[in-house]
Amino acid sequence: MKVTVFGIGYVGLVQAAVLAEVGHDVVCVDINAERVENLKKGIIPIYEPGLTPLVQRNYEAGRLQFTTDAAHGVQHGRIQFIAVGTPPDEDGSADLQYVLAVAKTIATYMESPKIIVDKSTVPVGTADKVSACVAAVLAERGVELGFDVVSNPEFLKEGAAVADCQRPDRIVIGTDSPAVEEKMRELYAPFNRNHERMIVMDVRSAELTKYAANCMLATKISFMNEMANLAELLGADIEKVRQGIGSDPRIGYHFIYPGCGYGGSCFPKDVQALVKTAEKVGYVPALLKSVEQVNYRQKDKLFAHVHAYFDGDLAGKRIALWGLSFKPNTDDMRDAPSRVLMEKLWAAGAVVQAFDPEAMNEAQRIYGTRADLSLMGTKEAALRGADALVVCTEWNAFKAPDFDVVKEHLKHPVIIDGRNLYEPDMLEAYGIAYYGIGRGRSVATS
Ligand SMILES: NC(=O)c1ccc[n+]([C@@H]2O[C@H](COP(=O)([O-])OP(=O)(O)OC[C@H]3O[C@@H](n4cnc5c(N)ncnc54)[C@H](O)[C@@H]3O)[C@@H](O)[C@H]2O)c1
Repeated sequence: MKVTVFGIGYVGLVQAAVLAEVGHDVVCVDINAERVENLKKGIIPIYEPGLTPLVQRNYEAGRLQFTTDAAHGVQHGRIQFIAVGTPPDEDGSADLQYVLAVAKTIATYMESPKIIVDKSTVPVGTADKVSACVAAVLAERGVELGFDVVSNPEFLKEGAAVADCQRPDRIVIGTDSPAVEEKMRELYAPFNRNHERMIVMDVRSAELTKYAANCMLATKISFMNEMANLAELLGADIEKVRQGIGSDPRIGYHFIYPGCGYGGSCFPKDVQALVKTAEKVGYVPALLKSVEQVNYRQKDKLFAHVHAYFDGDLAGKRIALWGLSFKPNTDDMRDAPSRVLMEKLWAAGAVVQAFDPEAMNEAQRIYGTRADLSLMGTKEAALRGADALVVCTEWNAFKAPDFDVVKEHLKHPVIIDGRNLYEPDMLEAYGIAYYGIGRGRSVATS
């Protein structure tokens, strides 16, 4: 099938490459000319395991094209995906300007009927707005062409995006049209062979499904962080509590890890956007507001530990930081807890020596060159001459370090672990002071 994807980011690029891999003929359109030119040279703008060979193979086979030529993109696909960003507006609601700009572009250039697919995460009612926008432009042009707007939210996880798109848990399609459903079934048939993964529903329910999924996951994290904070004050160990509750099949072990707060491009903005959506229809989303508030507080946690450990005297202190990305296997630092920590450390006069397996270029892009940030080539180099080590991201590379080396390099043998990667007893045996999240009394609460 001929498919066009607007927006070549985490979602658009992965989805396009995966569709091309099964034989669809895909044109990707982006307004970022540098990104498009780089992709033509095989330079992939993001880090995702398995993505580079997939893109290169399909580009060379001619099934995947990259262009800034929107008219060409619109002519190409019967199916037009909108996969552009929906960042938070000033008040926290989703900013639809990019989505509506693509809708306008499609309407401006279309010369045959189109199925327009909202793949971006968009508030309930957006499909109606996209429809109205397309209809208005077609009316201005004085042409009568059929079009449908479908909601097809994306559930991929950054860091496992290729695998998630190739073997999705579910493919949610929001449409009332049997003809459109049939076309979407044809498009996704290669991903639907093993068992039925398509869940077809009305458009509004599909739009809400995406927010409900992310808000549920964010709620689990904030719940565990709240329990961890209580565990600290009560002298309990949240890791034991986690196992104790996870063993109940009604609760389960998935996604109940306490930590230094959720980040990334989705949970923070999607929780905020659903809060705004609720308020617009006169509903007070008390739970979602608390989820957000707990997370906001949690992102302060690591700084509070460091600050308390050094009795508030951070001027001139060197802090080694392991992990910059908001989670492992990605270079994405959007809303990452590491950013809150670094910015607070800098404000207190400390210097950061950071290492991340993939996000160093992203950190350089965000913060540029500054005297109080050294991006180091290895995790050991980040430790040299540092006063303390803080772990922000649970990369595999950080899970079993040589603690003798860690101790040798640090001026003060102390680890503040935002992901509970290590065992307090073991570190005590090494003579290293250890503060995790919710693991008995902490330096910040004692
Ligand atoms: N990143 C994730 O893990 C994830 C997962 C599920 C859903 N989503 C949702 O998918 C959407 C896209 O997210 P992302 O992380 O891929 O964003 P991104 O910022 O990585 O990519 C967006 C791309 O769209 C391009 N763009 C903007 N305006 C355009 C236009 N008018 N025409 C063509 N291209 C245009 C940008 O240049 C950029 O390359 C968002 O709504 C997000 O919430 C993201």
